[in-house]
Amino acid sequence: MDMSTQEGAGIAKSNKTDIFLISGNTKHLRDVSEALKSFYIVHAFQDVNEISEALHAFHPTAIIVDEELASGGGGLRFIQSLRTVKVLSLIPVVFTARKGALEQIKASKTMPLVRTLVKPYLFSALLKAISDQVNAHVESQWETLQPVQKAALENTLSSFNSVADLIAEGKPLPYNDIQDSCTPLVTAIQSGSYKELLAGVKGHDNYSYVHSLRVATFLTLFGDFLGIKGDDMKILATGGVLHDVGKMMIPHQVLNKPGKLNDDELVVMRSHVTETISFLENTHGIPRGVAIIAGQHHEKIDGTGYPYGLKGKELNELARMACIIDIFSALTDRRCYKDPMTPVEAMKIMEGMGDGHLDRHFLTSFKELLLDAASEGDLH
Ligand SMILES: [Fe+2]
Ligand SMILES: [Fe+2]
Repeated sequence: MDMSTQEGAGIAKSNKTDIFLISGNTKHLRDVSEALKSFYIVHAFQDVNEISEALHAFHPTAIIVDEELASGGGGLRFIQSLRTVKVLSLIPVVFTARKGALEQIKASKTMPLVRTLVKPYLFSALLKAISDQVNAHVESQWETLQPVQKAALENTLSSFNSVADLIAEGKPLPYNDIQDSCTPLVTAIQSGSYKELLAGVKGHDNYSYVHSLRVATFLTLFGDFLGIKGDDMKILATGGVLHDVGKMMIPHQVLNKPGKLNDDELVVMRSHVTETISFLENTHGIPRGVAIIAGQHHEKIDGTGYPYGLKGKELNELARMACIIDIFSALTDRRCYKDPMTPVEAMKIMEGMGDGHLDRHFLTSFKELLLDAASEGDLH
């Protein structure tokens, strides 16, 4: 029985990632399905034959296998059987087991692509284990990309993760290293191979990274389209990667709230810019351009933006470009609670925004870029 927890959700038709879950313990099956349903489409199975049949038809992003499994010789045996089928052997697994199942726990820890959680575990630990496994799956597909595209994704991801660690530890950010990590991204974009970068982060579970990478990609692409060259291109890429670092200080429930933010939450959310500014002020060697992209991407020409309420000529070209790219990226980003807009839909919304919000000249140029890109194939 496939007890998919999302009403009417067909496999792989939603923005949520499909996860298979198998356990012989009905309560465990129900509890885990319920807990995960706002994040994933959970297909729950009690029987090995049923999950095997489903695996023939479709490969989920990850499988949660419980040790308590009456059929098929137990959870660990089921994972071992998965590993003997080539096409299934690369699907990451989270193995959940009772404390007493020492042999199974020990054996599972030696298996590749298996993350083991011993019951009782914290819900956050389960979410993190799945998220790590989903990301490992997405990142493993980067192996098939051209070296420059692979390096663009790997280097920016590792830079992004180390920035998060450094901020958490209160340490300064090594600007030069971060800028160097963006070099392959610039090279990939200058050689016209950027669509693979956007496709490469599809399904990645670290939304902040995905958004930052997409902003960096579109901003650099826009710069290339406008004829920007040399170090200025690195500033666009690095500015994109760093533009929202202050979001790391925003509580999860505000940052990932599916609905509209209330007034208090909006104040908290908007504080990500001042947080970003203070991190970057303490960053040695940061170019002015990066500080402008990060500090002014929410400013609007008519002065209604934040945090400074800059107006007209006070906004330079970088701020105007960054604002357009940030809005475009946010609208076309994939979130678990919303469909991504197509570039055409996003552009329509942006063109309909009050006059004076966005720079008309840059918006027209960006539309031209999108039209060119669309004529060469899908941009998502
Ligand atoms: Fe932002
Ligand atoms: Fe942003």
